[in-house]
Amino acid sequence: MRVQIDPERCQGHGRCYDLAPDLFGEDDEGYGTVLRDGQVPPGQERTARLAVSNCPERAIDLLGEA
Ligand code: F3S
Repeated sequence: MRVQIDPERCQGHGRCYDLAPDLFGEDDEGYGTVLRDGQVPPGQERTARLAVSNCPERAIDLLGEA
């Protein structure tokens, strides 16, 4: 599973890196970034889904959903 942020949609709300700091970081302007190329480590799937559902801009996509 991978996560991906659409930079066109991200407005820097920061919920992704607050809720899932192991999966997301922030750039200098507070926009979300993905760590490890977006790879979700085993056991972090629920956290990834939590971040996806909490982004107000729906800017986070989940890829490779099994
Ligand atoms: Fe951006 Fe959504 Fe995170 S707007 S900073 S991807 S919570």
